[in-house]
Amino acid sequence: MKLVKKLTAAALAATLCLALTACSDGKSLEDIQEAGKLVVATSPDFPPFESLEGGEIVGIEVDIMDLIAEKLGVEIQFEQMDFDSVLPGVQSGKFDVGMSGITITEKRQKNADFTDPYFLASQSIVVMADSDITCKDDLEGKTIAVQTGTTAESYCMENGYEVLAYQANNDAASALTSGKVDAWVVDNEVAVALSAEQNGATVVLDEAMTTEPYAFAFAKGSDTLVEAFNEALSELVADGTIEEIFETYGVPYVAPEA
Ligand code: ARG
Repeated sequence: MKLVKKLTAAALAATLCLALTACSDGKSLEDIQEAGKLVVATSPDFPPFESLEGGEIVGIEVDIMDLIAEKLGVEIQFEQMDFDSVLPGVQSGKFDVGMSGITITEKRQKNADFTDPYFLASQSIVVMADSDITCKDDLEGKTIAVQTGTTAESYCMENGYEVLAYQANNDAASALTSGKVDAWVVDNEVAVALSAEQNGATVVLDEAMTTEPYAFAFAKGSDTLVEAFNEALSELVADGTIEEIFETYGVPYVAPEA
């Protein structure tokens, strides 16, 4: 009887242990270096951070990720998806890192690990050039397009605006240009980049709605990997590389507050 009890206890401990390790889907730096590659989840509908050019993913975050991967001595394998699949895929351990102009929020920090922020963005309001909306207050009672799963969506919902959410950022933009909505709320640099494609038909309002510190995201428990990323990032900030990358894309670099 005693032996049975002991065995049961041992079995229980083993199961608990398994369950506990299964809880953390994060990879270590060693796992990544052994595999020789980083699997990067991204939604490339977000210029100048990530977008498609002739089937290739390009942008500020791609350049940063390339340099980090080089420092870690691994290759990059990009996996493309809509933004609302990036964080769930990273959290479940399906992908090693999320790269999508991801804003660190308290809510997201409960389910994912983040690097230190490397850029400070905000949300902007985009309207048609002939719109009577000129500031945030004018949005009352208007319909706003946002991308599903973004901070723009949660901000607009929490503030009681009438929201139409689109899985693809380009569809949110088209909702504005086709007259389905009165305004489109999106991250400031993306607003500028995508508005520029409209040849003056749309304008980006000056009023910033939120502050959005961007970082790369990982499954909980990716400690050594996050540490390695942070080290690489701080080197790239310190030697001016990050600022140079932003300059290449014509974006003024805004360092996040420490
Ligand atoms: N910064 C916003 C957020 O984290 C929007 C990100 C959208 N990214 C994209 N690649 N479409 O929610």
